[in-house]
Amino acid sequence: MKRVLIIGSGIAGLTCAIETAKKGNKAILVSPYPSERAQSVMAAGGINAVLPKCDAEDSVQLHIKETIEGGCRIAGNKSVTALCEEAPEIIQWLESIGVVFTRQADGNLARRAFGGQSRKRTVYAGASTGKQIITALVQEARKWECNGRINRQLGLLFHSALIYDGVCHGAVFYNEISKNLVPFYADAIVFATGGQNCLFGKTTGSALCDGYAAGKLFTQGAKLKNLEFIQYHPTTIETPQKRMLITEGARGDGGRLYYMDKDRRVYFMEEKYGEKGNLMPRDIVSKCIYDAPSQVYLDIAFLGKQKIKSNLREVYDLCNEYLGLDVTKESIPVAPSVHFFMGGLAVDIRHRTNIKNMYAIGECASMYHGANRLGGNSLLAAVHSGRAAAKSISEEVKPAAAPDFGSYIKEQSDRILQRFASKSRFSAVYIQNNLSKIMNDDLGILRTGEKLISGIESIDYYLSISDKLIYDSEISPYQGYSLHAMLTLGRAILTCAEARKETRGAHIRSDYPQRSKAYEKCSLISYNGGKYDITYESEDEICL
Ligand code: FUM
Repeated sequence: MKRVLIIGSGIAGLTCAIETAKKGNKAILVSPYPSERAQSVMAAGGINAVLPKCDAEDSVQLHIKETIEGGCRIAGNKSVTALCEEAPEIIQWLESIGVVFTRQADGNLARRAFGGQSRKRTVYAGASTGKQIITALVQEARKWECNGRINRQLGLLFHSALIYDGVCHGAVFYNEISKNLVPFYADAIVFATGGQNCLFGKTTGSALCDGYAAGKLFTQGAKLKNLEFIQYHPTTIETPQKRMLITEGARGDGGRLYYMDKDRRVYFMEEKYGEKGNLMPRDIVSKCIYDAPSQVYLDIAFLGKQKIKSNLREVYDLCNEYLGLDVTKESIPVAPSVHFFMGGLAVDIRHRTNIKNMYAIGECASMYHGANRLGGNSLLAAVHSGRAAAKSISEEVKPAAAPDFGSYIKEQSDRILQRFASKSRFSAVYIQNNLSKIMNDDLGILRTGEKLISGIESIDYYLSISDKLIYDSEISPYQGYSLHAMLTLGRAILTCAEARKETRGAHIRSDYPQRSKAYEKCSLISYNGGKYDITYESEDEICL
């Protein structure tokens, strides 16, 4: 029986744990918080699949084609084919473990239109699809917990991977309760740590997804991919803590975007792109909202109270609670916000990273979405990648004895304690806030080489002092030790964005406004002792 350490307990991590258990192996599922607080619960609008006998005009081939086109031709044909072909079986499996998808009057699963897709193929559970999936997966995981095949551990924050001679043997965590570093050893280690939201401050994602694991692994030798592609969701609203998503399902069900020109509503998306204007891919809608001359609104009121309350209940509640607005009568003021990271740990089609026995799944891995993800493909990729990694591990990993990492762990513990020994004029929180400001100001929806270079220089300054900092003692050790890796990750993202001298998908350069054939590839970045090296490769041919 192989021991599989899975870090992160959202949809990808839970799926991988369940599949690992089903294959006769043992999953140790580690996270700081319970699955119910994972980013996955925020995924609202649905999951894509071409279901048999539902739409004669739709096909898996079309799903593949639209995913590749939507991703601006840099997602791999092989990986996208595997994703889309497995989608119908995934829906069937999710239903079998208790996910209650919305159904039509004729009993078939209901499907809504989502951006960048010509057919209605997004299956949904109201507007809380992620929440429903997590609930069912947690129930399923509990069954395997009873017979010891899944062991869930909470209160553990990732610190570093245990790597020797190019092989990963486990990971070290900061235990928030005992306040020390604890190692977990395993035959395979799977990262399912989500996106990099916290690097940008307020986004639609969870502040618990901060990109630290990707940044730390990068400094430990893991390659990262397509970091420059950061998706802005077109329709979000401001709340005190974060941006809240107004699901694309609202436009899928008929919602219309407009701005006011004096007393006239300008339905700018429809004027520019015709009937399907409101459902263009996210990169296009976000840029059009960004360019609009005044506040943009989303109107769903005309759909009627009944449809809103049955299909878009969460949108109704959200706007009522945070904006005091009745969407059955008034339009919603919306703006784009950072939502999803197409980039992350570089993996091959079997979800292996370039470090032996280390895997990555879900949003922390870069695969399937190219330069712009289609709505509804992220939940699909989370489940698919969790299954794919469990399968690869079961087929290919050979248990190996771990070397002694005792002195490494002791040295890291001492280092954390020393840096909190006294007061300092530097605050990790201050530097973190500045990092978010740099990421938002210098790497927004519209980018220029000049701004990107200025962002790189600012981060280089903080990196040059970060090793000498003694942090103020009010912050948590995690906030202190995570800072260097997060600065490094920010630097890597800006470096990739500066290097890609074209406009493609979510990467929009005002100084290079055209798409360039020369860049029709994925970027791969590696960290060589403080040097950031970039190469470009086709997703299907990446050899890690
Ligand atoms: O708009 C949404 O419901 C988001 C879905 C997604 O990002 O896949």
